Amino acid sequence: MKNQVKIDQVIAPFKKQINVSSDKSISIRCVLLSSIATGKSKIFNLLESEDVNNALIAIKKIGVNYKRRKKFIEIYGVGINGFKIKKKHILNAGNSGTLARCITGLCSGINGKIKLVGDESLSRRDFSRVITPLRLFGVNIKSNKNNLPIELKGTELIRPINFFESKGSAQIKTCIILSAINAPGITKIKAKKSRNHTELLLKYLNYPIKIKKNKNHDLIEVQGLKQFRSFEYVVPGDISSASFFIVLTLLSQKSSLILKNINVNPLRAGIINILNRMNAQIKIYDKRNYKGELIGSIKVKSANNFKPINCPKSLNSSAIDEFLLIFLIAAKARGISTFKNLDELNKKESPRLDIAVDFLKMIGVKVKKNNSNIKIYGNPDLKLNGNYHVKAFLKDHRVFMMSVIAALTLGGKWKINDKDSINTSFPNFLKLTKKLGATFH
Ligand code: S3P
Repeated sequence: MKNQVKIDQVIAPFKKQINVSSDKSISIRCVLLSSIATGKSKIFNLLESEDVNNALIAIKKIGVNYKRRKKFIEIYGVGINGFKIKKKHILNAGNSGTLARCITGLCSGINGKIKLVGDESLSRRDFSRVITPLRLFGVNIKSNKNNLPIELKGTELIRPINFFESKGSAQIKTCIILSAINAPGITKIKAKKSRNHTELLLKYLNYPIKIKKNKNHDLIEVQGLKQFRSFEYVVPGDISSASFFIVLTLLSQKSSLILKNINVNPLRAGIINILNRMNAQIKIYDKRNYKGELIGSIKVKSANNFKPINCPKSLNSSAIDEFLLIFLIAAKARGISTFKNLDELNKKESPRLDIAVDFLKMIGVKVKKNNSNIKIYGNPDLKLNGNYHVKAFLKDHRVFMMSVIAALTLGGKWKINDKDSINTSFPNFLKLTKKLGATFH
């Protein structure tokens, strides 16, 4: 089968340093924000993946040109309200929830119509989360029962809003902030904590955005219609991509790995906090501030004495894309780990909480699920020797990559479908894994 990898050998000990691919969240934000800047932005190290490419194709359709240079990409921003919509454009967000949700906010003030579509996975996901605030802004939206396709008719009569973002979703928050930029006056958002790349980028651009931090939420005020100029940005490495290699190293024998130039913004790097509470001893060093973001290098070694965790709910958002990997460590911990309120995990590219439970049961790990809470009964001696087949499910890149890490560390004979799913976020994942010594058939 072409779109499948076969693994029948655990990875041999390695001691290496690798560079993982660029941050996807920041790449998409750089594309969207540079499209409404004035003048030529230069983005270095932009992630080359399907999701980011779809962002570039989408802005081009609404009149924003770009050019790929050798070391960077130039994006010719058209300014706020500068998009040109001559006819109803179809924008295809592919597999990307981030692009789809954020671009609806970016386009809230357009003079014309767009139709937003996506792949099978994205078309199953809920869009009421952005439709509700956008309607309050005055945007006219038709949807297929809150799913894609969505037809959006922007309005020049857009008005600022007050909104409570209660899910801890950075996609919703960013959609509202981008829409607020199109609206005269001040939009106020009370937002449960979530990744803050959009806010940090706008602050770096001297955009009038005020943030008051409270324990569990931020109070954000965005002044609309303040034009900002083009910018330069060097996108750092993605902690979500690095996490696959962190867990690969932790679960391998006598190995160590250095990952340089990774975004370790605490609102993103929850996995390090959680795994260190489980005794992983991952080190972050050479920390520095880059345009508001915290960048650092990560050092990780094999470990085998994991403690179970009662994972605080307050860390859910900062590790939301990494729970599949965290569950693998919990499966090897000495005792029972609990994770609560993970309903957002079932709203990703695939229902990841349900998939994780099935996966853990398939490899013989006892797990109990109660609504959106799970208990994992860890076993430090977990070793596999059966045959395992992970079937394609809705093109979920993170399910594919987590399965590869399990196969390379726990043993057994594996067939893992849906190899091409990595093209959405981390196209050189398998190449890097081979560089560390993995063999695939
Ligand atoms: C993202 C936010 C998260 C995350 C996604 C990327 C972003 O989604 O799961 O992979 O770039 O804003 P939610 O905002 O829906 O939690």
